[in-house]
Amino acid sequence: MSGARSVVVEGAHLRYGKGETGTYALRGVSLCAQGGEVLMIRGPSGSGKTTLLQLMGAMKVPDQGSVRICGDATTGAKAPALRRLRLARIGFVFQFFNLFPTLSAWENVAVPLDLIGYGRAKAEARARALLGELGLADRADHKPGQLSGGQRQRVAVARALAHDPAVILADEPTAALDGQSGGAVVELLRRLAHEEGRVVVIVSHDQRLMDKVDRHVTIEDGLVVGDDPARPHSMRIAR
Ligand SMILES: Nc1ncnc2c1ncn2[C@@H]1O[C@H](COP(=O)(O)OP(=O)(O)OP(=O)(O)O)[C@@H](O)[C@H]1O
Ligand SMILES: [Mg+2]
Repeated sequence: MSGARSVVVEGAHLRYGKGETGTYALRGVSLCAQGGEVLMIRGPSGSGKTTLLQLMGAMKVPDQGSVRICGDATTGAKAPALRRLRLARIGFVFQFFNLFPTLSAWENVAVPLDLIGYGRAKAEARARALLGELGLADRADHKPGQLSGGQRQRVAVARALAHDPAVILADEPTAALDGQSGGAVVELLRRLAHEEGRVVVIVSHDQRLMDKVDRHVTIEDGLVVGDDPARPHSMRIAR
């Protein structure tokens, strides 16, 4: 099933630093994210959420255990192979957008296309089309500094989608946004999973997202302590 849209993490450990000053960020995490569902990872600050997302996106490899992205294992892969895997499969959305301030919106979206060898005209056409789909056609020539937070995050989502990745990983995508902009970004991420069958993983503290996702995974102190399907509001048992 090498082509299956999934990210499978098995028994992943990851330690930052060596010796007595080192800390385990992940201590044996197993998790399977499937295409078609929106998975939310939550947990206290420092519990390992960002580290787990970085493993799922081949930005880091586990010290022990394994990660398979659409069937391809990251363990043992060298930096160029990991880079190829990321370019082929992964779109990242960061909390603070990480847009290039001197580039226009469409040029920001075109960055990954440039990396995979699109010519400029083809890259510009795809970038403008994606921005159009996200309601930003008339902002394509603006610089990030001329856009609102919600518009910047939509540009960041367009960039994450530019190379048509099977897996979208978003770290606190709504944290810097007001309710309406955050809602629009989440609707978009839901569509990418539900209508397009992509793997969508959102790390978030945002309570407003709780009812909008399909599954909640809770991590504490580097371990998964909960993995539950989200239930419709009316079915929730009052605590
Ligand atoms: N580059 C690093 N070097 C050393 N320790 C790190 C590094 N990055 C993270 N850590 C440590 O690893 C643990 C997990 O960090 P991580 O960033 O994954 O947490 P998080 O759940 O994303 O937290 P937050 O909700 O605050 O973003 C923490 O104890 C953190 O201090
Ligand atoms: Mg984090």
